[in-house]
Amino acid sequence: MESSDLKKIAESLMNKNKGLLAMDESTGTCNKRFEALGIPQTEEYRRKYRELIVTTPRLEECISGAILFDENIDQSIEDGTLMIDVLKKKGIIPGIKVDEGAIPLDRFPGEKITEGLDGLGKRLADYYNKGARFAKWRAVITIGEGIPTLTAIKTNAYNLARYAVLCQQAGLVPIVEPEVLMEGNHSLQQCSEVTHQVLHAVFNALFEQHVDFEGMILKPNMILPGLESPVQDSLEAVADATVLCFLRCVPAAVPGIAFLSGGQSEQLASERLNAMHTRFKDKMPWELTFSFSRAIQQPALEAWKGDDKNVAIAQKLLYHRAWCNSKARRGEYTP
Ligand code: 13P
Repeated sequence: MESSDLKKIAESLMNKNKGLLAMDESTGTCNKRFEALGIPQTEEYRRKYRELIVTTPRLEECISGAILFDENIDQSIEDGTLMIDVLKKKGIIPGIKVDEGAIPLDRFPGEKITEGLDGLGKRLADYYNKGARFAKWRAVITIGEGIPTLTAIKTNAYNLARYAVLCQQAGLVPIVEPEVLMEGNHSLQQCSEVTHQVLHAVFNALFEQHVDFEGMILKPNMILPGLESPVQDSLEAVADATVLCFLRCVPAAVPGIAFLSGGQSEQLASERLNAMHTRFKDKMPWELTFSFSRAIQQPALEAWKGDDKNVAIAQKLLYHRAWCNSKARRGEYTP
């Protein structure tokens, strides 16, 4: 694969009016969200829900790429069309989550390492043949008493870099996702320091593995105070801390940064993205957009409740959140 092809895909994903839709919840995560709403936790209900998402009218106006999970890359909508073909027909680039989840990092209590490198080259080739053009790998970093350790940061950074180089080799744009979790009572400043350290380690590892920065996308957390922190900072403080951290850590050759939402409310996630654009207009060397799962899907999931008669309203809500975020990524969002 020519590096110019990867660059073209990355640039299409970073379309100025659009962002990414993460619909790559693992079976366990999807079932947990279904359980909370009394939706049956079966493959058929997960299929129905994903059908609702991919057939949402006008989704392509706001969404450039959708991240699928292994279970749904082979699934079809009711009329027999593969979901991946429904996306392609709309001009939405299909992507695929390829990590195999995070497990405890032995000898480092409270920390995790993401698995999935074994046999990855072969899996990536299969996903490419099925039509995927980008991939995602998520590493998680927890802030707490004495953590994160340098070992956890470096080990996760190394795995992200190995994944990224294998993706580029297979013709897939890697979305590199190091997520510093919101859980905890840490301050905005602590999140900023940890994210800074993590991004330095990740870009150092990417550089060492000869990853082509122009053919990748970074999917980070915003810089936020912990969910249980007594101080919840203003939109402006979050926007400034986040963009300044990236200006210091993310090379200008990277085409774009697409945030995860991480458990923020839908509205706050949009407002914060919007504030970054209003405060740093024309001052960022990369595109800055969204790659949300919960902050796009949650209202739709709650409205659907597993009932066919709620599909139309759920799709309206899904489109609405995607539209709000496409506004926010241009600094034009008002709640
Ligand atoms: P959230 O937006 O719900 O954090 O999900 C994004 C994602 O892809 C997590 O890996």
